[in-house]
Amino acid sequence: MARRNRSLGRPRPGSSVPAAPSQTITVTVDTIGGGGTGRAAVDVDGARRIVDIPYVLAGETVAARLIRPRGDRFDAELLQVLTPGADRQEPACPHFGSCGGCALQHWPDSAYAAWKAQAVTTALGYRDVVPQQTVPMMRTAPGLRRRADFTLKRTADGAVVGFARRASHAIVDLQACPVLMPALAELVPPLRALIPEVLPRGADAEAVVNWTDTGADILLIPADRLPLDLDSRVALAAFAEATDVARVSWGGRRMAEPVVIRRAPRLRLGPVDVEPPPGAFLQASVPSEAALQACVRAWLGSARRVVDLYAGVGTLSLGLLPQRRLTLVEGDKAAVAAVDAALRKAGLVGVAQAHVRDLARDPVPAEELNAYDAAVFDPPRAGAAAQSAELARSHVPVIVAVSCDPVSFARDARTLIDGGYRLEQLLPIDQFLWSPHVELAALFRR
Ligand SMILES: C[S@@+](CC[C@H](N)C(=O)[O-])C[C@H]1O[C@@H](n2cnc3c(N)ncnc32)[C@H](O)[C@@H]1O
Repeated sequence: MARRNRSLGRPRPGSSVPAAPSQTITVTVDTIGGGGTGRAAVDVDGARRIVDIPYVLAGETVAARLIRPRGDRFDAELLQVLTPGADRQEPACPHFGSCGGCALQHWPDSAYAAWKAQAVTTALGYRDVVPQQTVPMMRTAPGLRRRADFTLKRTADGAVVGFARRASHAIVDLQACPVLMPALAELVPPLRALIPEVLPRGADAEAVVNWTDTGADILLIPADRLPLDLDSRVALAAFAEATDVARVSWGGRRMAEPVVIRRAPRLRLGPVDVEPPPGAFLQASVPSEAALQACVRAWLGSARRVVDLYAGVGTLSLGLLPQRRLTLVEGDKAAVAAVDAALRKAGLVGVAQAHVRDLARDPVPAEELNAYDAAVFDPPRAGAAAQSAELARSHVPVIVAVSCDPVSFARDARTLIDGGYRLEQLLPIDQFLWSPHVELAALFRR
């Protein structure tokens, strides 16, 4: 029976059938939510629930299956678009609709971009965070993603390489990916051919592929700690030779063994050449990284003493050398060792130092922060709750915040604003093309 959608306004033809998980519903989508999924309201066992349905557009009538409750909502999988929206467009990728990597290729670019910009405003609005100026969102083109995290699996009759299907552990065996740099996409067939040489039947692994200034740097992380025998080492060397990969490492992120080094992977950051550790965090594309670096440089103004918190391999701050004094703080020991080695090699240890510190458990206190003219911070998705509280207590005149999650950013921004900072500028960067994720760079001053 069609029911009125009470929370979201007018009744829609064909909307909603009472349903329990795993049952099929027919609904008309009301809006695209912050996660990039369509939202509709249906009655489930007598209670009105919001259902999230992927790969749909607002106004479309679709058949979907409820797959699981999530809080007071339900996740659904799309079965069929019964009435396509007028603006639905052909997706750029043949895997769209199954691959979990992209959520929004079926929307015209202008509508997608407007939705993404609005998602940022909405997330900030929940915390009453209003920037004095928001710069129009910087866009990135397809074919630029320079970092990929592939899943590899040896199956009964071969091997698959790809990304997880949406809401599933199953792997989409990748034939194409318009998001990736072509050089990374071209590694997929050779990786597929490599799998039977290094993984036993049924085993899986992760391949973290970073594109550096000297080519691809690959870390293979077997799901079970598999030692490498001689034959596997020979196979890895042949793979690296055939694909002209710079380095192939094997093991966990914390204890990877570089097995083949044909060239040292390098990242040029200002006057410093960093050799990133296997699997190092890199920004998603070179142009978006350059935009973040440009924000940091411009917004720091004449600040001389700078602290870079959650510094990684120094992507955002090493380019400021040698004119400024720099302290880099990072939780990952291998990243800090890489920065330290690079600074020594460049003869810059007198002006910059890198330290290992867990900033969630042991944030740099306000009293120490007061020694700096500016702070840069770029935490992981969860944000920097403890460190923001210390920054909010400090007198540091300028803070440049970088974030890949508007929700945690909004929370941390609220902490800074309550501590007396003004959010003067905000630049959203669409560096995670066709996904619901967005990068932010922000300037705070007191
Ligand atoms: C989003 S990345 C940014 C790295 C770097 N700023 C860049 O632009 O490449 C976040 C960094 O925070 C580090 N990190 C995560 N949790 C941390 C913690 N509790 N304490 C210190 N660093 C942490 C990660 O290792 C990673 O290098």
